[in-house]
Amino acid sequence: MMVWNMEEKCEPKPVIPRIGETAPDFEAVTTKGKIKLSDYRGKWVILFSHPADFTPVCTTEFVAFAKINDELTKRNVQLIGLSIDSLYSHIAWIRRIKEKLGVDIPFPVIADLDMKVATLYGMIHPGESTTAAIRCVFFIDPEMTLRAVVYYPLNVGRNMDEVLRVVDALQTADKYKVAMPANWRPGDKVIVPPPTTTDAAEQRQHEGFEYIDWFLCKKELPTK
Ligand code: BEZ
Repeated sequence: MMVWNMEEKCEPKPVIPRIGETAPDFEAVTTKGKIKLSDYRGKWVILFSHPADFTPVCTTEFVAFAKINDELTKRNVQLIGLSIDSLYSHIAWIRRIKEKLGVDIPFPVIADLDMKVATLYGMIHPGESTTAAIRCVFFIDPEMTLRAVVYYPLNVGRNMDEVLRVVDALQTADKYKVAMPANWRPGDKVIVPPPTTTDAAEQRQHEGFEYIDWFLCKKELPTK
């Protein structure tokens, strides 16, 4: 998907999918066979890109993603990896990770040699690299709505606690219609949606919430 940016010498600029929009569908070749994003409808999907196979930071990240896979499965989340490498490179790297680090890679990895998916999702940031995807994480909900996006540069590996925290935050926000304060972790209090009328604002302090101000109230969630 390209648009013409008239301000910058008519050079095509990728349209990056935005939060709240439907995640663009695609078909792709992966290490687990052909997949179509829409086949995962009904599950959460984390689509993440890495710059290149057989590189050190990416190797640590792949092991780290593999280690949180069980936790993600419990949360109905499917991981899908991607880089602009061939299927044979992916297979060789996955086998090497197993051999050297004893870790199985349980998720499909897209071989995006023609950059089709990377372009569709705006994973190429030319200031970083014109040939490799940056480190993106797209959180896609079961209705295929894009719910959160995280970008990291080539030289900083991602934090798996944050990946899990974002999933927990989005799923909890959906379930209880609440919002999450800074540094929220599961079990912490959550933010009650602010009132939208002056009467409701007046009432807020009598509703049993932790009351900081009329627009900032917190509550405990029921423990499972
Ligand atoms: C890495 O994974 O170590 C890496 C990949 C691409 C550029 C720089 C570092």
